[in-house]
Amino acid sequence: MTLNQLSDTIKLADGNQMPGLGFGTYLISDQETMDHTIQAAWDQGYRLIDTAMLYRNEDLLGTSLQKLGLPREALFLTSKVAEIVQGYDQTLKAVEGSLKRLQTNYLDLLLIHWPVREHFFETWKALEQLKADGKVRSIGVSNYTIAHLELLATQAKEMPVVNQVEYHPYLNQQALVDYDREKDIVTEAWSPLGRRAVLDDPMIAKMAHHHQKTVAQIILRWELQHGVVPIPKSTHAERIQENTDVFDFELAEDEMGMIDLLNKNQRTGNEPEIVYETGKQY
Ligand code: A2P
Repeated sequence: MTLNQLSDTIKLADGNQMPGLGFGTYLISDQETMDHTIQAAWDQGYRLIDTAMLYRNEDLLGTSLQKLGLPREALFLTSKVAEIVQGYDQTLKAVEGSLKRLQTNYLDLLLIHWPVREHFFETWKALEQLKADGKVRSIGVSNYTIAHLELLATQAKEMPVVNQVEYHPYLNQQALVDYDREKDIVTEAWSPLGRRAVLDDPMIAKMAHHHQKTVAQIILRWELQHGVVPIPKSTHAERIQENTDVFDFELAEDEMGMIDLLNKNQRTGNEPEIVYETGKQY
């Protein structure tokens, strides 16, 4: 089902609701930028805000949310467990730190940021425990391949409800998205605009011209119609707005197919299999 408006939510396998389009905060590293960016995102109607221990900005986000007086229940806050603190006890402890920095007593969604072979099962056990303790409402993973999910299923008491992966027209991970859907796992897209690489695509530019939309809007619409949850980031108010203005047009089946064909398995970020083996991003 494709969303009709920004306030629409989707139902996760654990019964919780999650916004179908979110806002990313990667690389925001000063308070002033965080304040005006979060204000703009809130004003535009974004409710899902995505951060991570590794972004080192949970404290900035927590301060912005307090300063702006945004109601906690209206927000959907996501954070992610960094590779360096994986393992059962370490994860439990590290998440306490995230909660403190974010000035909240629960997260809506906690993800394992990258799969790490050494701590693969214990970190997930810690997430199951945190959910049982009410510290996080939903638990999921990030950058997991089909193989990682299959492996996790051999020991997990409950499976992730979200898998957040790099996803854009040059890396559409069709098999993974299909697998996630079969298993009732929502695929979330990080770098949904391919860190700008896809914004210069001439074919999408033509389509954008035809629909009187921008290239970014065509890409985000393609993601929504695929049932993927994009979390675009921007520190510019006009782009923050532009990225929500994607509900007044539709891509035809042949247009969807044409964008699907642009896939070239082009990553802008790390290869999950290498992080899994080495235990760190490179
Ligand atoms: P900026 O903060 O300068 O707006 P990603 O695909 O990893 O989310 O990266 C997209 C990058 O492109 C962001 O860092 C953002 O930078 C920029 N951006 C976001 N939205 C738009 C847009 N609608 N048009 C052009 N650039 C955008």
